[in-house]
Amino acid sequence: MIPNELSVGELAERSGVAVSALHFYEAKGLIQSVRSSGNQRRYARSVLRRLAVIKVAQRVGLPLAEIAKALDALPSGRTPTVADWRRLSAAWKQELEDRIKTLTQLRDQLDGCIGCGCLSLKACPLRNAQDAMAEEGAGPHFK
Ligand code: FES
Repeated sequence: MIPNELSVGELAERSGVAVSALHFYEAKGLIQSVRSSGNQRRYARSVLRRLAVIKVAQRVGLPLAEIAKALDALPSGRTPTVADWRRLSAAWKQELEDRIKTLTQLRDQLDGCIGCGCLSLKACPLRNAQDAMAEEGAGPHFK
């Protein structure tokens, strides 16, 4: 049985997150502790679930600032409920899809660069992010 309050060592052991990372997350406002009478950090058991969400979000590749923003948006900064997690994971899935789309596009554009070497601001889609000719496909379009 998990006690209602955990020391930083107990939290690290149960969550698989290093003590240094826990301190870092706390400094960034992702998790909170209270002080014991001996001035030691004590974490509510619910922090374990919060850490699970943070770890999954990091695996998805979300920056900590974005994770903190999502957690802050929960009422009273609560630990995500099942419904919260469904909503967050659905939103993060969409972000992952968007990133996959961007990376796929970059990979395809890089295909056009292989063997080209022009690095032209006009012709190379990787040099020119606002490339008006991107719709025409990767690679040089001007001879
Ligand atoms: S180097 Fe990128 S299209 Fe030529």
